[in-house]
Amino acid sequence: MQATIPAGLDRKEAEVYQRLDPERLPKHIAIIMDGNGRWARRRHLPRMAGHRAGVASVRSTVETAARIGIPWLTLYAFSEENWKKRPRSEVDFLMGLLCRYLKAEVPTLNKNNIRLEYIGRQHELPPSVQEKMAWARDATAGNTGMVLTLALNYSARTELVDAFRSIVDAAARNGGLDHLNIDEDAVSQNLYTRHLPDPDLVVRTSGEMRLSNFLLWQLAYAEIYVTPTLWPEFRGVHLLEGIAEYQKRERRYGGLAGNAADTHSSHQHPSKMGRS
Ligand code: FPP
Repeated sequence: MQATIPAGLDRKEAEVYQRLDPERLPKHIAIIMDGNGRWARRRHLPRMAGHRAGVASVRSTVETAARIGIPWLTLYAFSEENWKKRPRSEVDFLMGLLCRYLKAEVPTLNKNNIRLEYIGRQHELPPSVQEKMAWARDATAGNTGMVLTLALNYSARTELVDAFRSIVDAAARNGGLDHLNIDEDAVSQNLYTRHLPDPDLVVRTSGEMRLSNFLLWQLAYAEIYVTPTLWPEFRGVHLLEGIAEYQKRERRYGGLAGNAADTHSSHQHPSKMGRS
């Protein structure tokens, strides 16, 4: 049976969508947006031009994901390492770009019923940026469609350290270390992503084969799709191509071939499934 094409897809997107099984779309897609600098360098432009161009890619990707009914999309916008290791001028530019993006996009996010969330150490960001982030989150809080999570000042290792600290702090408040109970659920429930299921698919642009300290715990069973496309050239159609590739994979969660029947789509945590 021919899949119904969701409203708003362009011709190229519709062509790829037709090849997809709408029953087996990933529920949560995480994207490592990479290659802004290289895109700019190839055009003899400053790096900032690459970041600016990357905003159109964010817009296209978010809209396409929402149109096809992806429930959760997480974008790695700004790592803790980016914050600490890049020149002040680039960091300031990225912060300004984020604030302008939030201001400009909230009406579209609301129109598309998208709720905005963040992961990362927000309290370390400049107060004016934190204010803008809180404003945008509050302005979209009533939306019931896709949850768009921006990873800002995010590091997976820091997230794990924060999780272990909060588990130990909670034990100390509740009668001491005798009450310390650490298992996979306890760790998951203390991550910044406690409100999200683990990603089914992680996309990385610009051809790099690395996770770069992104969602290291949560990506344990994710399918990895790396495209050579640089982030400023990435559009909704590339996301759909990634999903087509995802649908060719057989997800086994450590089990045996033909046995897994995509149990993950029922949002069951992989820790509940057998693994080898
Ligand atoms: C990686 O490219 C990209 C970033 C560090 C920033 C990502 C920011 C955007 C896509 C634009 C703004 C985002 C939002 C959500 C408004 P790179 O600079 O590491 O590229 P390179 O590896 O080619 O140097």
